Amino acid sequence: MEKVLNEILSNAQNEIKNVNDISRIDEIRIKYLGRNSELTEIKKNLKNLSNEEKKIIGSLANNISNVIDSELKIKYDELYTLNLNKKLEEEYIDITLPGIGRQYGKLHPLTQTINEITTIFEKMGYSLIKDKDSPEVETEYFNFDMLNVPKDHPARDMQDTFYTNVGKNVVLRSQTSNSQIRAMMNKKPPIKIIAPGRVYRSEAVSARKNNLFHQIEGLLIDTNITFGDLKGTLNEFIKIYFGEDKKTRFRSSFFPFTEPSAEVDVQCIMCNGKGCRVCSGLGWLEVLGAGMVDPNVLENMDIDKDKYSGFAFGMGVERLAMLKWAIDDIRLFYNNDIRFLKQF
Ligand code: PHE
Repeated sequence: MEKVLNEILSNAQNEIKNVNDISRIDEIRIKYLGRNSELTEIKKNLKNLSNEEKKIIGSLANNISNVIDSELKIKYDELYTLNLNKKLEEEYIDITLPGIGRQYGKLHPLTQTINEITTIFEKMGYSLIKDKDSPEVETEYFNFDMLNVPKDHPARDMQDTFYTNVGKNVVLRSQTSNSQIRAMMNKKPPIKIIAPGRVYRSEAVSARKNNLFHQIEGLLIDTNITFGDLKGTLNEFIKIYFGEDKKTRFRSSFFPFTEPSAEVDVQCIMCNGKGCRVCSGLGWLEVLGAGMVDPNVLENMDIDKDKYSGFAFGMGVERLAMLKWAIDDIRLFYNNDIRFLKQF
């Protein structure tokens, strides 16, 4: 019996010595110490032995169990460390290698321009209107009707305005002036808002004109507002945005929703007023339309026209950006050429 036990031990020790796959450790444990192992069988049968033998064989069997168990543990730890070191070596990262350079994006020049302009007006006390109160997809009601634009006005023509098939009278807005109507609908005077956004016009694309462009609308309604307030506000804005010495001119004009109306031109930066392809030979570029809110519009919106008056303006963001940075083609804003965008 002792011989059998010692043989079991030496077999087990042999196998443990030679194993190099950590997943086999359990197999060996089951084989030598498991419920169906020879060793367990011998322990079970101890009761059939004499007392003397029971003592000797019993303690020998227990010792052998303990030795096998501890050698398995040692081997397991050894293989575990070995595997770990191998893995660490394989996954070694050379932290002294130079990093991969990252390109940082920045705000689009039009977004920068919109932010700059709206900030100037916010500092003058105007509230910035959220997109939901100034939608790009709009009904004729807000884009034209309430703005006193006659049913047969040429701006409503399919040649000028994009009509959608979303529903009857639904257009891509041709001006941000829809936000004036929505502001008057949502709030009682005094009203003082600034509303930037995209507008769409069905026009031939050129260096000065694109089908999609951006406007910033302003509206102020209060008691005792005069044309002088409008002129002062716009002059102040131009001084802040362009600096003191930019040449501008006020020209009388017409819009169905303002009376009287005016336009502001800025001297063309590309030719210094001499006339070029960007200003189509005029030497000036129109950057905004403005005027005193027409009493018909106030009436449409149930605002007492005898108590309140106001002014409105709508400026072209692309034009203002072109004139500040000497950009000679509006299409550059939409081509997403990184060489262009990087400069701002
Ligand atoms: N909506 C006009 C345009 O797009 C500009 C404008 C706005 C004029 C507000 C007067 C008052 O040309």
